[in-house]
Amino acid sequence: MELKNFCVIGGSGFVGRHVLHLLAAGSCNVRVPTRRRERAKQLILLPNVEVVEANVHSDVELANLVRGMDAVVNLVGVLHDARGERGFAQAHVELPRKIIAACQAGGVRRYVHMSALGAAVNGPSQYQRTKGAAEALVRASSLDWTIFRPSVIFGRDDNFLNLFALLLKLQPAMFLASPNTRFQPVFVEDVARAFVHSITDVAACGKSYDLCGPRVYTLRELVALVGQMTGHRRPIIGLNAALSYLQAFALELLPVKLMTRDNYYSMKVDNVSAEPFPFGIVPAAIEAVAPAWLGNDSPRARYSRYRNRMPREIAH
Ligand SMILES: NC(=O)c1ccc[n+]([C@@H]2O[C@H](COP(=O)([O-])OP(=O)(O)OC[C@H]3O[C@@H](n4cnc5c(N)ncnc54)[C@H](OP(=O)(O)O)[C@@H]3O)[C@@H](O)[C@H]2O)c1
Repeated sequence: MELKNFCVIGGSGFVGRHVLHLLAAGSCNVRVPTRRRERAKQLILLPNVEVVEANVHSDVELANLVRGMDAVVNLVGVLHDARGERGFAQAHVELPRKIIAACQAGGVRRYVHMSALGAAVNGPSQYQRTKGAAEALVRASSLDWTIFRPSVIFGRDDNFLNLFALLLKLQPAMFLASPNTRFQPVFVEDVARAFVHSITDVAACGKSYDLCGPRVYTLRELVALVGQMTGHRRPIIGLNAALSYLQAFALELLPVKLMTRDNYYSMKVDNVSAEPFPFGIVPAAIEAVAPAWLGNDSPRARYSRYRNRMPREIAH
């Protein structure tokens, strides 16, 4: 497919920044709406990237944003929302419904949608249920759609491994909710490559792809791994279901949301998949790349940092 003009909604976030860096390196034009231009300031300097302050929930503004585009990518997602179910539904269901309608009205056929592994209309959390409802809308649309369903995503600027690293540094021991839930973390650059590849790949239309890394870990194993990489090994005390719920409830009351009850509900099911990574991309393992930013100053960590600066084809 020869497509050159893209609108990336939710492009100012963690995954979006990586997608945009790849798109900017190609010869395409990208429009990125954001609610706060300040939040997207790193993107303003990228070539051929137009950052626009806009209210994407307005039908009129959406129509203007998608006008003249060859493809629309939707990366909007919320992990916590103070408005609860209404906030999740607005970001995960109502917004995709409006984007699909705007694409249909504006003659944009190609739509790439970010969901999440575990998304299901009958899932245990609002996050999973609303992501599942959005998938149903996308599948029922007449657009040339692709859906991605990643497990938890890690990268230099993530809120996942970095958060564990910080908590391990600050605390003498780690009280861990849902320690036995299994995850298959995926590297943000691999997710971004899959997105960018799919946009122009006709074979990806009408398909849904799970995106997972090469290894499965329990949450306890992941925290231990971060402790090992950062040099802050701490005792990890796994909490049972009742204490996990209580911890989530207490943390939900803090102004900074480390965890909520909805996150706890999401962790009632494992977040793993047996599907291979698509498009011939070989997904990176945490152990291969994360020491470059989490590592302490051991020779192994320094080696990993140098290795990480090399192009992936040489490093792997
Ligand atoms: N990170 C993970 O581990 C992970 C795993 C699986 C799936 N996902 C999915 O991947 C997508 C991207 O995740 P991320 O980690 O990059 O998230 P992020 O860093 O929080 O970025 C979220 C993006 O969505 C926009 N946004 C958030 N709430 C919005 C709302 N109510 N209305 C309009 N725009 C809104 C933000 O734009 P502004 O500039 O306007 O703030 C931002 O660009 C999400 O759909 C998420 O559910 C993430």
